[in-house]
Amino acid sequence: MKINLALILSIIIAVGIVAFCFTYFQILNEKERLANELEEKVRISAGRFSDSNLLMIEKNSGLADSDYINKTLLQYRLLAVAIYYRSDSIIYFGKSAESLVKLSNDYVLQAENGNTALHNFFTVGNQYIYQLIMPVKSNEETDKVIICYSEANYIKNIINKIWLGNFFRWFMQALIISFVTVLVVRWGVFSPLRKIVEWIKAARIGNIEELKKPPANFLKSLHNEITGIAKAMQDAKLSAEEEARLRANAEAVWTPERLKVEVKSLLHDKKLVVVSNREPYMHIHSGKEIKCIVPASGMITAMEPILKACGGLWIASGSGDADRETVNSNDSIQVPPEDPKYTLRRLWLTKEEEDHYYYGFSNEGLWPLCHIAHTRPVFRELDWDYYKKVNQHFADAVIEETKNDAQPIILIQDYHFALLPELIKKRKPSARIAIFWHIPWPNPESFGICPWQNEILKGMLGADLIGFHTQYHCNHFLETVNNSLESRVLWENFTIKIGWHTTLVKPFPISIAFTRKAVESQSEQINPARLFNEYGIVTSLFGIGVDRIDYTKGIIEKFLALERFFEKNTEYIGKFTFVQIGAPSRTLIKNYADMANAIEKEADRINWRFKSKNWKAILLLKRHHSHEEIKPFYQGAELCLVTSLHDGMNLVAKEFVSEQTQKSGVLILSRFAGASQQMKGAIIINPYDIEKTSQAIKMALEMPQEERDSRIEMMRNDIIANNIYAWAANLLQTMSKLNTSST
Ligand code: G6P
Repeated sequence: MKINLALILSIIIAVGIVAFCFTYFQILNEKERLANELEEKVRISAGRFSDSNLLMIEKNSGLADSDYINKTLLQYRLLAVAIYYRSDSIIYFGKSAESLVKLSNDYVLQAENGNTALHNFFTVGNQYIYQLIMPVKSNEETDKVIICYSEANYIKNIINKIWLGNFFRWFMQALIISFVTVLVVRWGVFSPLRKIVEWIKAARIGNIEELKKPPANFLKSLHNEITGIAKAMQDAKLSAEEEARLRANAEAVWTPERLKVEVKSLLHDKKLVVVSNREPYMHIHSGKEIKCIVPASGMITAMEPILKACGGLWIASGSGDADRETVNSNDSIQVPPEDPKYTLRRLWLTKEEEDHYYYGFSNEGLWPLCHIAHTRPVFRELDWDYYKKVNQHFADAVIEETKNDAQPIILIQDYHFALLPELIKKRKPSARIAIFWHIPWPNPESFGICPWQNEILKGMLGADLIGFHTQYHCNHFLETVNNSLESRVLWENFTIKIGWHTTLVKPFPISIAFTRKAVESQSEQINPARLFNEYGIVTSLFGIGVDRIDYTKGIIEKFLALERFFEKNTEYIGKFTFVQIGAPSRTLIKNYADMANAIEKEADRINWRFKSKNWKAILLLKRHHSHEEIKPFYQGAELCLVTSLHDGMNLVAKEFVSEQTQKSGVLILSRFAGASQQMKGAIIINPYDIEKTSQAIKMALEMPQEERDSRIEMMRNDIIANNIYAWAANLLQTMSKLNTSST
């Protein structure tokens, strides 16, 4: 109210000052114009008057105030006239002439002496009078002075009218401008401000629902920021609550905050560098826009939360078609884009390097070599040469990025960089290096078919620590080294000594960023009808599978088991749909392209076989999906089917469990995935056994609720206790305890 009043007063004063100045100058001009006009008229009248024979008549008759004279004055629109010869000889025409001349004496003398006409206005009583004093010459001498008086009240009236008119205009303008301004301020400023206050209040009290209401377009960015703050505050609150709970229960669950503190004390400001082939954020062109996506990769699911919590540098190859457009001059970018926490440095590979190092040696050689999924590895000399070259390229980048760090911590990821530990160690012996192998390590006989097995093993043994998901994989690795390299394998403490260098080989079952806080923040109820609406499917129950399209994932086996399930349990036709989300992967490799076609054909065949109106047995969604898109499928599913023929860990199994806050869906998990050794609440299957897998599907769908709840509870607690923060803490603690003298 106060602001409104102040605003209105300011407008009135401002408009008033403008109106006053404008009127003042208008009146000056108008007055001058009217005076000139009057002067002109009076001059003409005076001229006519003096030319008339009245002068002579009156000089003699002295009838200065006769009716005749008054009529004549009226005719010339004059009030009075006086002819001044000398001070003792003045002829007056008109009633008031004599009294007026007395008032004009000074001017008359001035005009006579100066021999110049004078004119001015003056007021007598309530009469406004104009006087014109005109000396008349004969023989260069002033002969007489004619003094004319004219009534000028009309000028005053005009001036007053102008003041009045302008005052009215000013008043109306001020009124309208004030009204419009108050409206604009109310709707354009106060109302959005009130909205913002409501949002901030909602953010403060943690009412996220209020923030979900869509804002007006122009407030969108502010709304996003406030929503971000609200989420951060909610997270912080949940963390604090969790910390308090943990303290009270004396539990030791790892959270991002706890890891951050731990890393600080372990690393003592040493630089943390992660190296991987796949980058955690990929920029791609999408129409006219550049989109940022998180690639489908278990390695990224696991590693990203660590860097988000602790900061550091991640070096990876830039593979998005808009990646180059988004980096700075050092080929780096701060990520995550919406809330930067660490640096991503991109290295660029040539087409040949990508063909031979990535598609060739890594994915046609090492990948099938390590996964026993009955796809033959292909080893080409040229691929191997490029593999060495790219490893060297990454080693150079690591050395350059750590040139000012005495003892950086380097965490190398996966089978793309088997040679990197040795390459870095040779040039920077003080670096602490770990390599984590995210895929299985096969038995020594299987690995032995690789023509460059020894170079690969030596390259890896440049690390201080080699991590696998399971002890089983560690044992295979130790045996492989034992069988093929001149080294000392110490089984009692799982170390390998080559010369003076010792490498510890240890299992670190990788996990996801799951904390109790995440459980508490999940609330939304999933409605299958709404979820399937856009696909034109009506179903009351559904299951979910999420995989990269890869021959190791057993997707065909999964579909065959589903077919068998519908064959035997026809009551589920029309009621249960299986959603398979398949992210296309490595599609330039023939095996992968064939697999993508094969699963599509298989889904079509099965769908055709059980065809029913508005229903499908299998809904195959073959594209990259963000975590946010997958989430409702995880949350609403009755079951999740993980059928890997061979898998390092498989984090989809853990992600599914972490999202089971609504339903307690059942996890059906392949015994050939590393996760099967941890997830005790899952139904464990052999994906090659189609019959048993189909029975597992039925069992999952018909499992009593209490059993589902207790299985999920057990697995959830296990993941929380062994989440990715625990994994990272364990890995870094192990690294910091390693004996430096051995390196
Ligand atoms: C596996 C590997 C990761 C890899 C991911 C996706 O999970 O362990 O290192 O990033 O597959 O494969 P891609 O070839 O697309 O990176």
